[in-house]
Amino acid sequence: MKDLVLVLLGLVFVGAVGASAVGRPVVPAMFVLGDSTLDVGNNNHLPGKDVPRANEPFYGIDFPGGAKATGRFSNGYNIADFIARHLGFERSPLAYLVLKSRNYLIPSALTRGVSYASAGSGILDSTNAGKNIPLSKQVQYFASTKAEMEVAWGSRKVSKLIASSFFLLGTGSNDLFQTRPKSQADVAALYATLVSNYSAAIIDLYGMGARKFGIINTGPVGCVPRVRLLNATGACNDGMNRLAAGLATAFKSGLATALAPTRLPGLKYSLVDSFAGSQANFDNPQAAGFLNADRACCGSGRLGAEGKCTRNATLCSHRDAYAFFDNVHPSQRAAELSAQALFVDGPTQITTPISFKELAHQR
Ligand SMILES: *[C@@H]1O[C@H](CO)[C@@H](O)[C@H](O)[C@H]1NC(C)=O
Ligand SMILES: *[C@@H]1O[C@H](CO)[C@@H](O)[C@H](O)[C@H]1NC(C)=O
Ligand SMILES: *[C@@H]1O[C@H](CO)[C@@H](O)[C@H](O)[C@H]1NC(C)=O
Repeated sequence: MKDLVLVLLGLVFVGAVGASAVGRPVVPAMFVLGDSTLDVGNNNHLPGKDVPRANEPFYGIDFPGGAKATGRFSNGYNIADFIARHLGFERSPLAYLVLKSRNYLIPSALTRGVSYASAGSGILDSTNAGKNIPLSKQVQYFASTKAEMEVAWGSRKVSKLIASSFFLLGTGSNDLFQTRPKSQADVAALYATLVSNYSAAIIDLYGMGARKFGIINTGPVGCVPRVRLLNATGACNDGMNRLAAGLATAFKSGLATALAPTRLPGLKYSLVDSFAGSQANFDNPQAAGFLNADRACCGSGRLGAEGKCTRNATLCSHRDAYAFFDNVHPSQRAAELSAQALFVDGPTQITTPISFKELAHQR
């Protein structure tokens, strides 16, 4: 599992179909922190040959408006893009390092937001160290963005904007694959560190004025094609799913305590149960509209999962029929369905305590 460096959030699930509201954004801006499920190009601007990047075909082959490898680990949009669309934006805000390189950071921050997400990153600085922007650094980049925004707009206006902006967070899976807990005590210690460091990052953002957090919890990483390869039958890896489910549970209770309104007045969050969301898909892919939920659309070898998705890879022809585009990441269609599920209110909602929709509309 050592080379399983990208993030593995097989976040693939079905929700009621709800029209996204591209047009008038319901929040002033969106700030994104996390891993490869949300990265929109930061890693393309990091030095080093071991940095995971989605900068060549067939990545982006279905990117709306023309095939283009943008750094997204998808054939088109990723989950951040679809969440942005539900909030009324055209797609995810651009990557921080892209904006920096174009000298366009502040105009974007003030009108749409910024994405700090970086493939391969985790909650811990030590996760795939040197090959990504770890969460703590992403938080620092937000702090420096905020300082620059204040120069342009003044601190009062910027505080108001930040307080009503949507902070999307999705990370944690990569940390699990960096460590090999040998005992239950190791597992408990790992969870405790991850919960405390994740809470610390969120509390830092709160300290800078952030109030609305949409948090995507770890999902069934044992079901991604790259992991299914380990079993001759192609079955999900139960041990890995248990480790991820345990972390999801630890986050749920840990964040409820750390982010309680008595401690952090005004903070609102919506936490996504990615296990509940993706269950239907893996149990019955056809019902979810997929012909295939265990193979990679783009790749090579068994399950399309032995080789990477490159311009030499084999590409499936019906990309919307695959839950996975490469051996780890959801297809554009799966990302779209996942995002829809986050905006569902009511009995079928997979978010607690409120949906992304309610969160977005909180005042
Ligand atoms: C995690 O949190 C601990 C305790 O606050 C801190 O000492 C450590 O630097 C953090 N580690 C990482 C890798 O972020
Ligand atoms: C492979 O998957 C099957 C379930 O289909 C399971 O019974 C078996 O233990 C798995 N083998 C390994 C080596 O994990
Ligand atoms: C793709 O194929 C070409 C020639 O067939 C080869 O030279 C190149 O190394 C391959 N690239 C990758 C990434 O496998």
